Amino acid sequence: MTSMTTRIAAPTPDVLDEAARMIRAGGLVAFPTETVYGLGADATNGEAVARIFAAKGRPKFNPLISHGASLEMLRGEAKFDDRALSLADQFWPGPLTMILPRSETGKVADLTCAGLNTIALRVPDHPVALALIEKAGVPIAAPSANASGTLSPTSPHHVAESLGDAVPLILAGGSTQFGLESTVVDLTGPETVIVRAGAITAEEVSECLGVPVTYELSATDKPRSPGQLLKHYAPNIPLRLKAVDVKPDEALLAFGSLKFMCVKGGGKASDLPPAQIRNLSENADLLEAAANLFAYLRALDKPEHKRIAVMDIPNTGIGIAINDRLKRAAES
Ligand code: TXA
Ligand code: MG
Repeated sequence: MTSMTTRIAAPTPDVLDEAARMIRAGGLVAFPTETVYGLGADATNGEAVARIFAAKGRPKFNPLISHGASLEMLRGEAKFDDRALSLADQFWPGPLTMILPRSETGKVADLTCAGLNTIALRVPDHPVALALIEKAGVPIAAPSANASGTLSPTSPHHVAESLGDAVPLILAGGSTQFGLESTVVDLTGPETVIVRAGAITAEEVSECLGVPVTYELSATDKPRSPGQLLKHYAPNIPLRLKAVDVKPDEALLAFGSLKFMCVKGGGKASDLPPAQIRNLSENADLLEAAANLFAYLRALDKPEHKRIAVMDIPNTGIGIAINDRLKRAAES
């Protein structure tokens, strides 16, 4: 549904400045790339990225692509090996996304990468996308700008129809050149593997690198085929969900007020040592909680704790994605 509050605007310099300000302020902007329209947010701002998931109505946190204006802008986010540098040299800007090991010094938020220690990077070949990223001065996280489970948008009107007032500004750039998402190549292991087919073929990648390249499309395209699921971040110690108290040997992942949380055997949860407790959002704000989720799980995932007790999180809006991830972590 299109709404009065969604604006489709031609990307004049003034509009691009405004769009870049919105991105820097943590807002959402839809923009054209050479593949499909993207729903963009500051990739380094977890709450901004949480807004992408909320707007798409994605019931899951899938890792997103971080878009740069150049290789230089993305260089500090990942460990680029010789293959990655050759591919960037030949195909960037262009419809090729590389999955690489994350660098410890990177600025991209944990939520953008869904807590994984790998990151998806690409430099899009579209003047509007490049200008927006350049002006924003930060990598932009962007999935396709459509509601979850619907077709990827290839025109600004598709975006407006699919997302409605969930996106305040859509930069118009006509119909996209390819109309198909970028090729995704996984370079995190010794093999070079294409996990999503796109305009750039395995033959082209293979020719560029001088090594064999295989397709393993089920890893991301058919998430229902068991055994080939995209790997998810999961803590090493068990989780206990919907906890109403915390045991002395547990860590506590809190949400909202701690007023009624007690430590079993005596004491208040708010008096736990700092290493044993993280609060996803003291104000019970689900966007803030989503932004903190992966970093806080990691902080509490220590062998000195027997398990992580997790307070109840409302199953509405982006809370559905938070609970989906916690449930998987609890079952693994
Ligand atoms: O053409 C495109 O790539 C568009 C435009 C907007 O750039 N973007 C796009 O994003 O299609 P999205 O979020 O719909 O798809 C990203 C793909 C997904 O298949 C996701 O699973 C994969 O990239 N991906 C992202 N990070 C990953 C990671 N760390 N490991 C494995 N796969 C990853
Ligand atoms: Mg998509």
